Amino acid sequence: MMTSSLKHRPAIATSPDKMEFAADVIHGLSQASKSLSCRWFYDAKGSDLFEQITELPEYYPTRTETRILQDCAPAIVARTEPGSVLVEYGSGSSRKTEILLSALNKLAAYVPIDVSEAALEDARIRLSAKIPGLRIFPVVGDFLAEIDLPASLRQKPRLGFFPGSTIGNLTRDAAQGLLHTMGERLGPQSRLIVGVDLIKDPAILIPAYDDAVGVTADFNLNVLERINRELSGTFDLDAFKHRAIWNATQSRIEMHLESRRQQTVKVLDRTFDFAAGERIHTENSHKYSLDGFTELAGKAGFETLERWTDANTLFSVHDLRFNPR
Ligand code: SAH
Ligand code: AVI
Repeated sequence: MMTSSLKHRPAIATSPDKMEFAADVIHGLSQASKSLSCRWFYDAKGSDLFEQITELPEYYPTRTETRILQDCAPAIVARTEPGSVLVEYGSGSSRKTEILLSALNKLAAYVPIDVSEAALEDARIRLSAKIPGLRIFPVVGDFLAEIDLPASLRQKPRLGFFPGSTIGNLTRDAAQGLLHTMGERLGPQSRLIVGVDLIKDPAILIPAYDDAVGVTADFNLNVLERINRELSGTFDLDAFKHRAIWNATQSRIEMHLESRRQQTVKVLDRTFDFAAGERIHTENSHKYSLDGFTELAGKAGFETLERWTDANTLFSVHDLRFNPR
């Protein structure tokens, strides 16, 4: 049962609490190794920049996962009970979801969950026009928190959808914990379709996170602009440089913002000193092997029913069933 603290709210409700943003930013910048949570990337401008990233030639994940989903949608549909509710975590523009929404023609409702109110509202308007009759219940919220399903949908079977390799933005331990929590909330024997980016040559990975035209740099720097606007910050965006690094030990791309000089920055009533070359760690994007992810899903209580990849094994889609021992 999805009972809980975070209330189901319409997309017009307030975005994540500014107090939480302030507390998280001040905490992250007060550490010896400064960091910011990647969840704060996604204000309206950040969601728009992410959409631009998905169209970059270097950013292979979106087009590759889209192709995989087009191929595997019939198998996903065949395993899905008619009258199910599709619950999507970190739905963003919901573009890939259209593939499932048009294939799953007996859906009770679609529940997209995202911290970006702007992205949810744009998606709701587009999908309502494209798929008349589809019941959409957008939820503005953190998928790490507990999410209530609208009362009318609580008894329906659920299919979870977590595409984009957003799972990779969590540490492996946190990813296992989140999958288990999702399984518990979706219910025993529920299925979860997860998109997972695969380990590959850093010569492909690094440009995907450091593109030639600088959209990813703008996406990274936008978090500082958001702090300036929402938390009276004094970051000079020209004084920070976007860095994308392959951490081979952790099999992850890390994004950082590197101070170009010694400087002091104010956020609300606090000051933060930066040495020249000091970095703020803003994102991890973990990459998995196929078996590595299957093992992690197993530890979280999910049996793998089927998994698909593209011809170049760049990306993968996993069809999981929650079957905890
Ligand atoms: N699913 C889309 C978007 C991926 S981008 C795709 O596959 O292309 C990641 C999305 O997750 C963004 O829309 C962002 O706003 C959302 N997001 C990031 N952290 C989140 C969190 N903790 N809770 C809810 N949504 C989150
Ligand atoms: C949303 N997430 C899976 C993206 C990723 O690839 O880790 C976010 C992103 N960061 C830089 N480019 C895209």
